[in-house]
Amino acid sequence: MPTPTNDIILVISGSLRRGSYNTMLARAAISLASKCPMELASIREIPLYDGDVEAQGMPPAVTALKERIAGARGLVLVTPEYNNSVPGVLKNAVDWLTRPGSDIGRVFGELPVGIIGATPGPGGTRLGQTAWLPVLRQLGCQPFFGKILHVANAGAVFDADGKVIDEKIAKLLGAYVDAFTTVALATSRPASK
Ligand code: FNR
Repeated sequence: MPTPTNDIILVISGSLRRGSYNTMLARAAISLASKCPMELASIREIPLYDGDVEAQGMPPAVTALKERIAGARGLVLVTPEYNNSVPGVLKNAVDWLTRPGSDIGRVFGELPVGIIGATPGPGGTRLGQTAWLPVLRQLGCQPFFGKILHVANAGAVFDADGKVIDEKIAKLLGAYVDAFTTVALATSRPASK
């Protein structure tokens, strides 16, 4: 596993929807980063996982995202909750990013990973966020537990341009970004695993 080469934290939204609240939340988080740049990384070009496709060679979008993660100081997953669990599109992307398995340590080992999420419903993606934890444990990363952000009732949290208009959420998001970037920058990933 390389020492991170970029002082960058990647942010991945687990929704492909144009008007996605989770992408709005991801962009809002990025706009609040002051200690370290945060960048949005898309999963749109990642195909459905298929072992036959993998046997022909890794899709370029997968390789590119793997290398961005390997070089980053941290990763924030901004996750919708589907049926009380993780959304399939994001799980599919993460599954590709763990191939081949021999690369998991290099890409994810000791990586600080934050999880936040938004839903129009009342639960704030609590169950969806929790459902990621066994995945993160399998990947050997360092889940960030310093703050919690559950965005419920998302239709009233963002305006049409994606700006956070709920002051409480704006404050919580700012505190989350601040705490996560502090931890990510203080975490050294080992040179090999
Ligand atoms: C949902 N939604 C949802 N919401 C929630 O709070 N708990 C849930 O278990 C589910 N389950 C669920 C399943 C499926 C298949 C869909 C399509 C949706 C609603 C979901 O939170 C809502 O569609 C969000 O707007 C999705 O996130 P984006 O696209 O706005 O980022």
